[in-house]
Amino acid sequence: MEILITGGTGLLGRALCKALQARGDDVTVLSRHPLRVPRLCGKGVRGIGDLSEWTPARRFDAVINLAGAPIVDHAWSEARKRQLWGSRVELTQALVAVMARAEVLPAVLLSGSAVGIYGDCGELICAEDGPAQPAQDFGARLCDAWEAAALGAEALGTRVCLLRTGLVLAHEGRLLARMRPAFAMGLGMRLGDGRQWMSWIQLTDWVAGVLHLLDSTSARGPYNLCAPQPVRNADFTRTLAAALKRPAFLAAPSCALRLMLGQRAYLLLGGQRVLPERLLGEGFVFQHETVEEALRASLD
Ligand SMILES: NC(=O)c1ccc[n+]([C@@H]2O[C@H](COP(=O)([O-])OP(=O)(O)OC[C@H]3O[C@@H](n4cnc5c(N)ncnc54)[C@H](OP(=O)(O)O)[C@@H]3O)[C@@H](O)[C@H]2O)c1
Repeated sequence: MEILITGGTGLLGRALCKALQARGDDVTVLSRHPLRVPRLCGKGVRGIGDLSEWTPARRFDAVINLAGAPIVDHAWSEARKRQLWGSRVELTQALVAVMARAEVLPAVLLSGSAVGIYGDCGELICAEDGPAQPAQDFGARLCDAWEAAALGAEALGTRVCLLRTGLVLAHEGRLLARMRPAFAMGLGMRLGDGRQWMSWIQLTDWVAGVLHLLDSTSARGPYNLCAPQPVRNADFTRTLAAALKRPAFLAAPSCALRLMLGQRAYLLLGGQRVLPERLLGEGFVFQHETVEEALRASLD
């Protein structure tokens, strides 16, 4: 298959490029730094720097849309929010517009989203049949608009799957890289009261899930890409500390997190209890069902 990936140089994109190349697919990555693509994504992967390089005669069988400025790294100023929006919603709108001009329409668009689309759900279980509540916080509104932009490709006749991804656990990932040093010193902390749910997925399962959606011609619509056993923040904290053979007695008070992170504190103090009902219903088997196994695989 000829595949175009936006944001293919990121954590998820690089792992996907490797898996696609291993099975013989031909991969092109849209990147702001196209010359770096072969080094980051694999020798045979081509880089393009702008969507205008996708001429109508150029055929892609599938498009995987992962680009987006990092959500957590910087304070959500109005300028930063515009960047988060532009790099996801507007880029996806531009992508669909270019798809519409292609002489041969891609058969499938797999487009990024996140479990944040469900907002802070408390104890409610979130399955795919719709956000539990209308999007209120910025993160949920962003995911909502990102999905709506991708669904524009359905009107063209392309199959669209929405990748509602949980926190991805991976050796090379930013999440564990940030948490590990403090946990390794015995300074791991639960966040607030630690009762908020965390929906997570190990990187190998995320890649396998995406390949499943790429190949299942009947798959369309939203899919929760997270393991079947979400955990509370306090349990995640305990499990990560135990995996590193350290204690974790401390707690980061909610008010301190709000003071430090502003609106972004919502991402840490709120949570979603998300189940991958559609993947499980289609017989998808997770390699890492428990957070213990996933952390073991991600820390080695
Ligand atoms: N990792 C997770 O835990 C997780 C969870 C839920 C959802 N997601 C979503 O899944 C997608 C992929 O995640 P990831 O972890 O692989 O992300 P990542 O490592 O941050 O990579 C995202 C890619 O997007 C491109 N990008 C960054 N800023 C951009 C900007 N301002 N304009 C256009 N492109 C930009 C970059 O590619 P170039 O530098 O090559 O242009 C980058 O490699 C993201 O959209 C993310 O929000 C991730």
